[in-house]
Amino acid sequence: MNKNKLTVPDIIKKKGREKITAITAYDSLIAGIEDKIGFDIILVGDSVSNTLLGYEDTLRIGMDEMIIFAKAVSKGVKRALLIGDMPFMSYQISKELALKNAARFISESYMDAVKIEGGQEFKDTIEFIIKSGIPVLGHIGLTPQFYLSFGGYRVRGKKEKERKKLLEDAKILEESGVFAIVLEGMPEDLAKEITENVSIPTIGIGAGRFCDGQIIVVYDILGLTPEPHPKFVKKYINLRELIEKALLEYKTEVMEGKYPEEKHIY
Ligand code: KIV
Repeated sequence: MNKNKLTVPDIIKKKGREKITAITAYDSLIAGIEDKIGFDIILVGDSVSNTLLGYEDTLRIGMDEMIIFAKAVSKGVKRALLIGDMPFMSYQISKELALKNAARFISESYMDAVKIEGGQEFKDTIEFIIKSGIPVLGHIGLTPQFYLSFGGYRVRGKKEKERKKLLEDAKILEESGVFAIVLEGMPEDLAKEITENVSIPTIGIGAGRFCDGQIIVVYDILGLTPEPHPKFVKKYINLRELIEKALLEYKTEVMEGKYPEEKHIY
């Protein structure tokens, strides 16, 4: 194993010491840039479905496609902990199928761990995977694979009953052995309470300032995905505008016979 490679214990040790930086990637080029600047975790998220692939949600992608994106990402990364996101119905049907699919992420695409959306309902499945030697990252709150049951992408945990369930889910996930938990789309004070009440790191997305780390969809902060974005997204660059400008310039030069020039020919 590469001695610079981050491990699951390295991530756990960061709790209370330094913020954990996590981000998504779906290809080797972006993943390579993220790894070069030192992100701790790179997630091959099922958000590839509604970003790169242009579907409306994350329910349209399966294991075979996820493996292709994960393989590409692994080619670009030497240091970051790599996580494969278990897609819709890859873990909900049975714990045996869940383990088989988690193992594919490890053996076929060089991931270091997998992520599973859901709490108490998936306790047995998560424990089964962890016992088999595959680390699991938990994910609770506004879990996009469950938006049909939630009735949309609504912030979770505003109502007392939901809040209590999310606190319980975080505890159950910790007991099940997950190494960290993604907290998505919940009030800041709830994410803070969860963070203070579990011994493992929490990684927030739309969950405020007090999580042990943050994760985000890379194409959202690069300004490549079209508007509207959720409130928590900060655009650090408008890549869409820059790409449009460059492509228009190329197209115009081709039409006007300005490209290729003499220096471009053999
Ligand atoms: O698929 C995804 O991108 C995620 C997030 C936590 C960023 O699950």
